[in-house]
Amino acid sequence: MLEPKYVRESRTVKSSHVLPPDTNNHNTLFGGKLMAYIDDVAAMSAMRHSRRRAVTASTDSIDFLHPIKVDTEVYLEAFVTWTHRTSMEVFVKVMAEDLLTGTRMICATSFLTFVAMGDDGKPTDVPSVVPETPEEILLHEGAEKRSELRSIRRKESKRLAEMLGSRKPWEK
Ligand SMILES: CC(C)(COP(=O)(O)OP(=O)(O)OC[C@H]1O[C@@H](n2cnc3c(N)ncnc32)[C@H](O)[C@@H]1OP(=O)(O)O)[C@@H](O)C(=O)NCCC(=O)NCCS
Repeated sequence: MLEPKYVRESRTVKSSHVLPPDTNNHNTLFGGKLMAYIDDVAAMSAMRHSRRRAVTASTDSIDFLHPIKVDTEVYLEAFVTWTHRTSMEVFVKVMAEDLLTGTRMICATSFLTFVAMGDDGKPTDVPSVVPETPEEILLHEGAEKRSELRSIRRKESKRLAEMLGSRKPWEK
């Protein structure tokens, strides 16, 4: 039995200055770039919790609530909200601070699931997680329901993949 850990022990932050090379044709942060930041900070959080290599098993959703402009600090905060046997749910909050005015807002939120991998390349057990703050408790309480929905969706994805096959359009 692994020793439980506090949510705060997996808290991980990542911050970046949004500059023109990071932007799309609307002069706001490119969505794919933000998705990479989210996956990266969440992976670090999962590894910090499990002290194992962790792979992204799924991303429930990424809700882009506001565009992020140039000369903004994009600040991401990730922590493990819930664990099962080998999997960990990680929540990521994306905040933007206008560096010229100081105005801050939450621009995106996301839930991801990571699986800890053992040295044999197979999923391995992770410590359970103990929430402390009201925000952590709120997210922890909703996690079991999200996990059930994920499990249904995973079965659907597998069924769809079997139906679709892997033939390329020009192959007979
Ligand atoms: C994720 C992965 C390791 C699961 O392996 P598997 O052989 O299907 O393992 P299992 O069915 O025993 O599932 C292991 C755990 O993963 C969870 N899991 C697997 N797929 C999942 C999904 N799509 N969403 C959420 N959880 C998932 C299971 O619920 C289980 O959790 P638990 O042990 O806490 O109950 C495997 O599918 C994989 O390697 N996928 C590719 C990962 C990848 O390349 N990511 C991108 C780069 S890091």
